[in-house]
Amino acid sequence: MGSTTPPKKQLILNAFAMQSPSHLNPGLHRYPPDQGHKYTSLSNWVQLAQKLEAAKFHAIFFADVLGGYDVYRGPANLTPTIPAGAQFPINDPLYSIPAMAAATHSISFGVTASTTYDAPYALARRFSTVDHLAQGRVGWNIVTSYLDSAARNFGLNTQIEHDERYRIAHEYLDVVYQLWEASWRDGAVNAHGDGVTGYADPTAVRQINHKGKYFDVPGPHLCEPSPQRTPFLLQAGTSSAGKSFAAKHAEAIFLNGQSPELVRPSVDSVRQQAKELGRDANAVKIVAGVLVIVAETDEKAWEKFREYGKYGDKEGALALFGGWSGYDLAKYSDEEDFRFVEAPAVRSMVNHWAKTVPGGEGKKWNKATIAEYLVMGGNGTKIIGDAKTVADELERWVEVADVDGFNLSYASVPETFDDIIEYLVPELQRRGLFHTEYEVPGGTMRENFYGVRGQTRLPESHHGAKYFWKEGEEVPKYTLQEKE
Ligand SMILES: Cc1cc2nc3c(=O)[nH]c(=O)nc-3n(C[C@H](O)[C@H](O)[C@H](O)COP(=O)(O)O)c2cc1C
Repeated sequence: MGSTTPPKKQLILNAFAMQSPSHLNPGLHRYPPDQGHKYTSLSNWVQLAQKLEAAKFHAIFFADVLGGYDVYRGPANLTPTIPAGAQFPINDPLYSIPAMAAATHSISFGVTASTTYDAPYALARRFSTVDHLAQGRVGWNIVTSYLDSAARNFGLNTQIEHDERYRIAHEYLDVVYQLWEASWRDGAVNAHGDGVTGYADPTAVRQINHKGKYFDVPGPHLCEPSPQRTPFLLQAGTSSAGKSFAAKHAEAIFLNGQSPELVRPSVDSVRQQAKELGRDANAVKIVAGVLVIVAETDEKAWEKFREYGKYGDKEGALALFGGWSGYDLAKYSDEEDFRFVEAPAVRSMVNHWAKTVPGGEGKKWNKATIAEYLVMGGNGTKIIGDAKTVADELERWVEVADVDGFNLSYASVPETFDDIIEYLVPELQRRGLFHTEYEVPGGTMRENFYGVRGQTRLPESHHGAKYFWKEGEEVPKYTLQEKE
């Protein structure tokens, strides 16, 4: 018998986008071919979705924020942010999903929404609506948010404390699971009518009567069950509270890091925690943020990268840093080397970059260096080169970090994706690393992320599955267990 090589892990590839002139590329809307300014056009998004679907991308993953980046040169100052189009202005991505879904068949859509500012009853309804209209191709990127500007606009003086936001998020998830999974029994809807029960069976629609520390929601859920019921659950947040939240709830986790060696401990920790909760650790899909600039040759890719750099808005990059970190770098001189600054959070972040960004150690990490580093791709790693160089590095990430795929950000939209489709996707396919057809064409997001036909609902080992209300049950099982 000949030796058999184990099949290679199939990559998940998502396009990482935002409905704003610039996402992780402040100022690049000024690069002449860039189409970032078309973010208000529905046909722009539909065309992008069709293009990405033709290349078999798993999903478009929409980041979103609920306030402006106003810390830099602050307080509450958007002057550096606005000319850069740096995640401001920004539209709500959810509204465009049904149109993109109607024009496509298999690609899915991840949409960011916050557990800190959205009421669970309303959020559950919005996602059910879109899951219906998109035939089960929507995911929810669960975030707890990080901008003070959002807190102020939602009636708070300042943000709710970090770990408290995660405690709220845990209860929030239990509310929406009950609305999605335990309010309408399987088979409750009899839309075509048998002349007896009418549209739906009233004994199969129940109030959830949730009364908790943070939320009181009687229900019932306003929407009938959508294809996935609970949308596919994504999460991004890497603190220890964030990781334990992800281990319990997330089906796919998005994380950033400069090198696969540094990301590996986070991946292991989340998978281990998921296992301890009785979940299949490999069913927690992990995708790393990466900016790929790929061209015919290494030299051409670097040329392109340098050309993009001319349009980057450094002030906008420092504004993004201000929002992410809460620190206003304008308070420091242009010469300040932030590897040695007294603010520990900034110092540790910058030292981390200095040690891990290629060529970073020989540099003085002043404002200009930070801006130059963050102006494209944010805090995600950057891979620049021809298809072979990029594919080799992505393979190394999979091997060393044990990630399942990548969220590909852009320096210029759609050019960055066009180049990836032209050069990188065929190379990954040649190597047997990326599918040439969807695992479940026309399937739901969950089926295509797990690669399992029929896996439309939450897996049985997921915490949310305890709320399932199955046919033949007078009430969902969990309500009986809680009374015992
Ligand atoms: C890679 C990554 C992407 C994120 N994207 C968003 C986003 O689009 N919108 C948002 O409000 N928060 C976003 N966040 C913030 C997190 O969801 C989380 O609320 C924040 O990082 C604080 O949690 P943490 O301390 O656990 O990381 C992102 C975080 C990471 C690490």
